[in-house]
Amino acid sequence: MKSDTRLQHTKVSHRAHQTVNPPVEKGSSLLVKTRAELYGTGTVYGRMGLGVQRELEAALRTLENGTHAQLTANGLQACALAVASIARSGDHILIADNLYGPNRRFCTRRLSAMGITASRFPPNLTPDALERMIKPETRAIVLESPGSLSFEITDTPAVVKMAERFQITTILDNTWSAGVFHRPLELGVDLTVQSLSKYAIGHADAMGGVVVTRSETLAKKLQACANDWGLGLSADDAYLALRGLRTLHNRLRQHERSGLQIADWLANRPEIDSVLHPARSDHPQHHLWKRDFTGACGLFGAILRPVSDVQLDRFLEALKLFRMGFSWGGYESLLIPSDGQLKRLKEDPILQKAGPLLRLHVGLEDVDDLMADLGGAFDVMAANA
Ligand SMILES: Cc1ncc(COP(=O)(O)O)c(C=O)c1O
Repeated sequence: MKSDTRLQHTKVSHRAHQTVNPPVEKGSSLLVKTRAELYGTGTVYGRMGLGVQRELEAALRTLENGTHAQLTANGLQACALAVASIARSGDHILIADNLYGPNRRFCTRRLSAMGITASRFPPNLTPDALERMIKPETRAIVLESPGSLSFEITDTPAVVKMAERFQITTILDNTWSAGVFHRPLELGVDLTVQSLSKYAIGHADAMGGVVVTRSETLAKKLQACANDWGLGLSADDAYLALRGLRTLHNRLRQHERSGLQIADWLANRPEIDSVLHPARSDHPQHHLWKRDFTGACGLFGAILRPVSDVQLDRFLEALKLFRMGFSWGGYESLLIPSDGQLKRLKEDPILQKAGPLLRLHVGLEDVDDLMADLGGAFDVMAANA
């Protein structure tokens, strides 16, 4: 054989060592021996994922207490897949008004191009009022609890109970709880969605998403839709998500502790109008959080008392540990002014707030250092009054 042929066929036998973690198998073509295998029902192409993706799916099924997990390349794809696997042209869906913005945009703009209409509802609408929005063609209700900008907790069991009477599928974006502090499938939700880019991966160095269910029928729909669209997660990113899951509970405990400490400290600062943190007793749906959640992550909101744009800019520029950037769930603290992302129904109470809305992600740094960082930036803000 010539050199170029030989170069394509060098081989050593792999799997010589038993490592703690699965090998990151990379592959598009999977070699089979027979025609029956090639056209059989097994994994025959790399797009469907290989060993490390199967292990990650198993871990995510355990985390969310589901029976089927479908991976995607990011969280937004998971949100989109969940809805699109159920709704058909001519259908209608109901979406909570606190959904992650791009998910809300998918449900309105993209689905409308596919002949599916969406109506928005305030996340704390009573089940009776929500029921009045149901049409004969309503197929799904999409929730995010708490909302990742405005932090309302929905009465999910009540929505589920009502949806079940109409055989409407319920979907809940569970990214805030990371599957650790909230188990929507145990409350009767049909599909739970997570952006793995946040706490699961936990280091802001990769992206991923997942939809988990307990329903065989919905699992088949999810898988068919994912296959039709060619959705999946790369082996490298699946590996990072699997590795992140092993320390998820430990990290979240610190995010929770530090997050609450900073939320309480902020609530007593003169610069702050109010804090939006479901685990605080002054949160309007604290009772629902206490009933349906077992903890809180490091993401919450704070509303400033009115300040000028210049003061807000100087405050943001003075922060050294809290840096500005989208996403959350990594080891690092982040803070963004989040008004720009809030595109709510006009009657929404959060629009009546006093000053700018901030979103904080409290990372794994020392909490005293984080408070000193915020305190120093408040001083700069005051000096620019
Ligand atoms: C609540 C929530 N869901 C879904 C997503 C989308 O995840 P990804 O960034 O992995 O696409 C985000 C991203 O910020 C989010 O905050």
